[in-house]
Amino acid sequence: MSTYTVRFEDNNQEIIFAGVMRPRQTKELDDVRDVFERALTRVSGTLNFNFKRLLKANNVAFQEMVSLFTSVSKRRPELKVRVIVSSVVGWAARKFKIVGAISPNIQVEQYDQTFYPGQGVLENGSFISILRTQTKMTWRHERNILPRHGMAEGKEVADICCGIGDFALLLHKEFKPKRLVAVDHAKPSLQYARKVAEEFGIKEVEYIYGDASALLLDSNQFDFVTCRHSLQVFNKPELILKELFRICKPGGRVYISNEKNSHCLGEPRAASIAWTYEEVARLWAHFEMDIELGPKSRRYLQDTGFDDIRMESIMVTNLDGDPKDFADVIQAWEDVYAGEMAVKRGDTPEFISRFRQGFQDHIAAALHPKGYAGWPIWIASGRKPL
Ligand SMILES: C[S@@+](CC[C@H](N)C(=O)[O-])C[C@H]1O[C@@H](n2cnc3c(N)ncnc32)[C@H](O)[C@@H]1O
Repeated sequence: MSTYTVRFEDNNQEIIFAGVMRPRQTKELDDVRDVFERALTRVSGTLNFNFKRLLKANNVAFQEMVSLFTSVSKRRPELKVRVIVSSVVGWAARKFKIVGAISPNIQVEQYDQTFYPGQGVLENGSFISILRTQTKMTWRHERNILPRHGMAEGKEVADICCGIGDFALLLHKEFKPKRLVAVDHAKPSLQYARKVAEEFGIKEVEYIYGDASALLLDSNQFDFVTCRHSLQVFNKPELILKELFRICKPGGRVYISNEKNSHCLGEPRAASIAWTYEEVARLWAHFEMDIELGPKSRRYLQDTGFDDIRMESIMVTNLDGDPKDFADVIQAWEDVYAGEMAVKRGDTPEFISRFRQGFQDHIAAALHPKGYAGWPIWIASGRKPL
């Protein structure tokens, strides 16, 4: 059965397809041709076909698309055609690849191959060890904070940008949700998440490969939507927030956490530590990520349309549990930030050496018998109006 939508958006010169297209005959696709004809009268330069959310298409539908592309080449030879697919909808990426051969004017683009600047670092698996230790440290705080933001037993919950999925497992154990969906775009992280869930014998968490800025989940489904430490890594956080808002039920809440890394602190050796974390913020900005986003959460939530905004900050410290855990987090940051990102930016050995020293001083502060080391995080949530 067909349950698709097709519409033309003038501002992007884009025909957008979504849903399932399974016509028995081409005449069932009259609406597609109408939208196409209208688009042709209005575009110049490039006409975009967006298949990011087309979940399925049978051969009749696919052949119809091919005939539309061919028809553009014949009727408007000056027009370029861009076919946009996503790796999230695997069949489309595979099948549409061949249509580039129809004409040199047709270009097929997998938009999420390089769709945000920090993607390379986050999706190659380097972050796995960072995330695991971070969650161990933050969960001690968050298990008590979550109920203040509306989390309770028996809810339908989504964790978007779930990373290695450990937060979702903890939510499952602590709050016994009725449904729990966890989505991420890093395949190594999801693989890891599924393996851990299997080891723990937990079958209830649905781990899904997806793009948080174009989710394939229906609107108004979840009572509680979480998105932790992730708006700060994506270069267009407002796109993700729009999706979190959309999938949340009216009256439900969206819960986000983000950092302000330049406020990391430690004693002794405060100056060296402060210098390094100022540089972390600059380094992230170079890759278009905003690790200073935490205190901006209130504005972001308001601008997306949420009300009843609740916000609090926590300071994760070396005194929370085993100071070695804190030291492990910092070591993992140093490995990725100084060992990988600074090198990628082309920093000098002198800079990298001073940069590393601040992390080592933070670790020393955490392990020092009289030392104190802190990592501040901002938690915020908003309600989707009824
Ligand atoms: C810093 S990690 C945080 C992971 C997890 N929420 C946590 O707190 O441990 C950021 C995650 O966001 C994911 N991510 C970034 N942009 C995404 C997008 N557009 N769609 C899905 N996942 C995305 C990355 O793959 C990564 O796993």
